[in-house]
Amino acid sequence: MTITAPRGTKDILPEEISSWQYLETICRSLFKRYHFSEIRTPIFESTDLFDRGIGDSTDIVQKEMYTFSDKSERSLTLRPEGTASVVRSFLQHKRYANLPQKLYYMGPMFRYERPQAGRFRQFHQIGLESFGSADPYNDAELIALCVDLFSELGLNDITININTIGCSVSRQLYSEKIRQLVLPHLSQLSEDDQRKYETNPLRLLDSKNKTTQTFLAGLPDMSDVLSQDSKDHFHQVLNYLDELSISYTIDSKLVRGLDYYTETVFEVTSASLGAQNALCGGGRYNHLVESLSGPPTPAIGCAFGVERLLSLLDLSTFLYNDPLDVYFVPLGHNQRQVCFKLVNELRRAGLKCEVGLSDSLKYELKTASKLDSKFAAIFGEEEAINNLILIKDMKNRTQESVSLSNLLGKVST
Ligand code: HAM
Repeated sequence: MTITAPRGTKDILPEEISSWQYLETICRSLFKRYHFSEIRTPIFESTDLFDRGIGDSTDIVQKEMYTFSDKSERSLTLRPEGTASVVRSFLQHKRYANLPQKLYYMGPMFRYERPQAGRFRQFHQIGLESFGSADPYNDAELIALCVDLFSELGLNDITININTIGCSVSRQLYSEKIRQLVLPHLSQLSEDDQRKYETNPLRLLDSKNKTTQTFLAGLPDMSDVLSQDSKDHFHQVLNYLDELSISYTIDSKLVRGLDYYTETVFEVTSASLGAQNALCGGGRYNHLVESLSGPPTPAIGCAFGVERLLSLLDLSTFLYNDPLDVYFVPLGHNQRQVCFKLVNELRRAGLKCEVGLSDSLKYELKTASKLDSKFAAIFGEEEAINNLILIKDMKNRTQESVSLSNLLGKVST
């Protein structure tokens, strides 16, 4: 039986890789302009980090983590997201001594979810985390960066959904209001929503269950319980966005699925995607650093889903087109030996080369053509005796014998 990639994972084949590299290049250049620097953290961390960082009550920690014990019986988890890891590194290396810190990362994340279009068990995120300022300016700047990225990628069909979930006190108050409304109907909630009721009632707001939503119908707006500081903060974020004419939709039900958020939360969706329409999600997490035993450090960040972004790009622009410069055809063992040296010289000079080893001229010329090589360099016994090599221009179908010392000059024209 052949072995295939595990469910929910996929290979990124050479034909697709240029679109990944394109996206990464665009991001790196944009992030640099916004003064973010790259950080790379391990793919696995102590399970404890995610339990404490992402929150016990979240779907991720409850059911989606790939957790295993190593030989020393340490519990480790493949990272389900990047924020907790970056905070861990920020603390471990005392980066808080030099604030602000603006960091970005790119790489695979792992969640045991039910695979479907746009949802994988190994997927890739490009994320940004900015530490050290609680100013609404930073919230707006991060959203402006997202808008710039979508515009550079030519993606217009996007919506920025934004909300504030206030400080921990207002979250507490609002959670109580939700509990009071839902309590009489508790037994009618799904098992999942009953868990949310117990652990984080705010999450009931984005429950997909219609019955749950009807019980929440009389819920006052979150803004009723927000402190004046939270209202002012949100108001200023929106003012900054207006300054750049960035359009957004205020979605009072947006709470996000991770426990660390405070104040501003946002999600970018695309109508061109199916059920899994979130391209990017993020928000403030002013207490996460502290909750992982660090000094009080306000922070904000977001992450893009790479597979979802790429699914919206016109991939015909990235056709796999990477032809060879020279395809060598040595005919006979001794000729191979000489070619080994010639190829090496050309590669060192920056040319892309390959060697055909079948000893069949007809077959190798076909291969050179298939690989779209600019030149075929044929080196038989007669050429070897005369210190020559036959260079065939594969496009013009012309050929010329050149001396070995002139090979580089001929094929680099
Ligand atoms: P998240 O909303 O869980 O946030 O994920 C961010 C993005 O990753 C989503 O909007 C989506 O595009 C993509 N994504 C998530 N799960 C999957 C999946 N199973 N398959 C494919 N794509 C997926 C976070 O992870 C936060 N750490 C973002 C953040 C950074 N907040 C503050 N800083």
